[in-house]
Amino acid sequence: MSLPSADARNADQVAYWNGPAGQRWVQRQQEQDALLAPVADMLLARAAAGAGELVLDIGCGWGGTAFALARRVAPGGRVLGVDVSELMLARARELAPRGLPVEFVLGDATVYPFEPAKADLLFSRFGVMFFADPARSFANMRKGLRSGARLAFACWREPRENPWLMLPLQAAYRHVPRLPEVGPEDPGAFSFAAESRVRDLLGRAGFAAVQLEPVGLTLDVAIGEGLDTAVGTAVGIGPTSRALEGQPAALQAAAIQSIRAALAAYQVGNRVPLAGAIWIVTAVNP
Ligand SMILES: C[S@@+](CC[C@H](N)C(=O)[O-])C[C@H]1O[C@@H](n2cnc3c(N)ncnc32)[C@H](O)[C@@H]1O
Repeated sequence: MSLPSADARNADQVAYWNGPAGQRWVQRQQEQDALLAPVADMLLARAAAGAGELVLDIGCGWGGTAFALARRVAPGGRVLGVDVSELMLARARELAPRGLPVEFVLGDATVYPFEPAKADLLFSRFGVMFFADPARSFANMRKGLRSGARLAFACWREPRENPWLMLPLQAAYRHVPRLPEVGPEDPGAFSFAAESRVRDLLGRAGFAAVQLEPVGLTLDVAIGEGLDTAVGTAVGIGPTSRALEGQPAALQAAAIQSIRAALAAYQVGNRVPLAGAIWIVTAVNP
């Protein structure tokens, strides 16, 4: 892995997104894009990117939202997708439609040398919760924004408000050991669940007019394809995938059976709708 520069404290996350998590996300690219499409739609509407703008898509992954943004800023605008994962970026470059004004760079957003005071919008769908020192990371990203530029990102609220992730995990725990405890502020999917923390760190990074809008979601973890796909979603991403990683095959099989039974209770035809909860966070660079 050859990240040009990175905050050493992000090393675990860099390894994780260049290892098992990156592999699983890339394998599940189409399903993940379909599953998270409602979040993309809402966030893109709030971000309101317009023709001619320069947008930074942080933790852009394989570029689904970067492509959508690029369609909005053309003609005359440009999207820069930044990510620490070579695996994700390789897929993004493969998928990039010809002629779209989008470019991808490998970089840790905490230290990436953004062109100063240029961008109109800092955007991220679930790509900003993995920093060891988020106030420093956001201060660095803010350097790339012109005065008056907007910030718009989506992050998960508390685990208990996200049964689409926690229901399968609880089912898996009947068979596999619990994951090591993580603190509420440790880098990871839920590290921005607390409104006060997000307000505090964005304030310390220099942003103004910070707003957090709570949004409840119904996520069809089967994406309309039935129970097998729902099980694939449950074991393919998030905490359940980590809990199963490296476990003996027999335990994995037993866990998957329990997950299947738990999800079946919510099946409606080919859909398995489960609740999720996010913040849509917006702010302004003064
Ligand atoms: C949950 S995925 C979201 C991917 C994409 N935004 C999406 O919605 O499909 C989180 C992404 O953040 C990236 N990431 C984690 N830490 C990062 C950092 N310090 N700088 C840039 N990207 C980072 C990961 O490599 C991963 O692609």
